Amino acid sequence: MSGDSRLRVLIVGASIAGPTAAYWFAKAGARVTVIERFPQLRTSGQNIDIRTVGVTVMRKMPGMEAAVRAKTVPMSGISFLSTSGRPVATIKPSGNPDQQALISEYEILRGDLAKILYDMTKDNDNITYVFGEQVSSIQQHDHNNDGPVTVTFANNTLPPSDFDLVVACDGATSRTRALGLGCALREHIHPQNRWAAYFSLPRDGLLDNNNSDLGELYSAPGGRLTAVAPDAKPGVARATLMAYYPPPNNNNNTDSPMRAFREAQKQGDAALKQFIAHQWTNAGWKCDIIISGMLQSQDFYATEIAQVKTPSLHRGRFVLVGDAGYAPGPTGTGTSLAMAGAYVLAGEVGIKHRGDLKAGLRGYEDVMRPIVEDLQRIPPGLGAVFAPQTWWGLWVRNLVLWFVWRTGFLGLVQRVVGMFAGAFAGAEKYTLPEYEWEG
Ligand SMILES: Cc1cc2nc3c(=O)[nH]c(=O)nc-3n(C[C@H](O)[C@H](O)[C@H](O)COP(=O)(O)OP(=O)(O)OC[C@H]3O[C@@H](n4cnc5c(N)ncnc54)[C@H](O)[C@@H]3O)c2cc1C
Ligand SMILES: *[C@@H]1O[C@H](CO)[C@@H](O)[C@H](O)[C@H]1NC(C)=O
Ligand SMILES: *[C@@H]1O[C@H](CO)[C@@H](O)[C@H](O)[C@H]1NC(C)=O
Ligand SMILES: *[C@@H]1O[C@H](CO)[C@@H](O)[C@H](O)[C@H]1NC(C)=O
Ligand SMILES: *[C@@H]1O[C@H](CO)[C@@H](O)[C@H](O)[C@H]1NC(C)=O
Repeated sequence: MSGDSRLRVLIVGASIAGPTAAYWFAKAGARVTVIERFPQLRTSGQNIDIRTVGVTVMRKMPGMEAAVRAKTVPMSGISFLSTSGRPVATIKPSGNPDQQALISEYEILRGDLAKILYDMTKDNDNITYVFGEQVSSIQQHDHNNDGPVTVTFANNTLPPSDFDLVVACDGATSRTRALGLGCALREHIHPQNRWAAYFSLPRDGLLDNNNSDLGELYSAPGGRLTAVAPDAKPGVARATLMAYYPPPNNNNNTDSPMRAFREAQKQGDAALKQFIAHQWTNAGWKCDIIISGMLQSQDFYATEIAQVKTPSLHRGRFVLVGDAGYAPGPTGTGTSLAMAGAYVLAGEVGIKHRGDLKAGLRGYEDVMRPIVEDLQRIPPGLGAVFAPQTWWGLWVRNLVLWFVWRTGFLGLVQRVVGMFAGAFAGAEKYTLPEYEWEG
């Protein structure tokens, strides 16, 4: 860090990881620029969970837990439906945020969480947000990484500028990762043969009565899962569609549905909606109403669910945080990992190893690796529970769920799942380092 002792940090992406990293880097005395590709903060998306290390970091940010609680989704549980649409089992939150069950105590809309984090950072003198901008090149100057990196921008809202550190927080399909690591766009993406779509739609005719705050989850064969949940706004419901295809059994997946999804995605939302409507043909239950709601929805968002695994989280003065570096795929822990990663990176680089960037980045990698590995582990049987492929699989799933529910074994099952999946562990399972923040 030559001359100026204040770290100049560029953060790419303003969703969850980006604003959290901005908050902690500013607290460490850095000057922070956050750029976001979209022209304004994106507010779409559906329910996400704050769990384990995410809860830990949230509680370190004054005012955040209260802000999140004020926005949590009004859902008291989820009913699994039979093939004829009758509830076979109902899962409720554990009631104890430190011992989380399948449903988190902190379930919140992604847009609301992004807004909370943005509001906590946008007026900070040491943080500048620039929307409608992305990186077009990153040039690292010398092999020892002693000098700053020069970054150029695609939309020229910022001139070419020097930074001490570039932090990619631009999600699982990060383009900045390809620039910073010098790799292909999909190089570190591990497909899971799944996608998800989220949108809101009129509640009429969907959830049984207007006062119910139970979500409903229905599976159709072919790994097609449909979930509907109440929205805080009267008359509005939120839907999630998820497809889980069997892994291709040979290397020839040229005509796999996952590939078709990606092709449709390239053509835009209209094509993607058509693809999904076609996939949901004859899905049963209330799926036809839900599909027509999707075709008309204004806040549709769909994404491939994949894991990201890179051999290293940093290269020179470039580093990955959140989904860009370690998207966990179907485990539901992406938000918590993103929040923890942002906190640890700023603490290691800006506080613990201040003045020694290399040591700071190594520290970040060392602290995060074991947590990432744990929270990326996919619980065995996840596909069989949520997205059975056949009517027979569905029937068995529903029978088991019914039995487990009626005999009160559900709590036990949730604890067993917790043993396999770090996702369901309490906040205390991983201890994050404490750093001596200034202000
Ligand atoms: C609009 C949206 C809706 C989502 N909905 C859900 C949901 O319903 N359920 C769920 O489980 N997860 C959802 N996610 C993913 C979830 O937010 C993440 O898995 C998790 O919170 C980790 O967040 P992240 O900040 O690392 O990455 P992300 O949330 O993926 O955020 C990446 C950010 O970077 C921006 N960006 C992308 N490319 C560039 C670029 N080249 N330059 C600058 N900025 C760029 C994006 O616009 C976005 O704001 C959604 C993400 C987005 C962006
Ligand atoms: C911005 O950074 C300077 C220098 O570290 C510090 O004195 C000031 O308090 C910071 N401002 C805010 C709002 O954090
Ligand atoms: C480029 O920046 C301008 C503001 O300077 C903004 O209006 C526009 O939307 C941006 N373009 C893109 C493609 O984001
Ligand atoms: C539910 O609410 C809608 C208006 O939001 C109303 O038209 C409908 O009659 C209500 N249904 C029941 C069962 O109360
Ligand atoms: C792969 O599958 C497609 C479609 O089923 C088929 O046309 C093609 O011949 C197959 N290729 C190989 C190498 O098996």
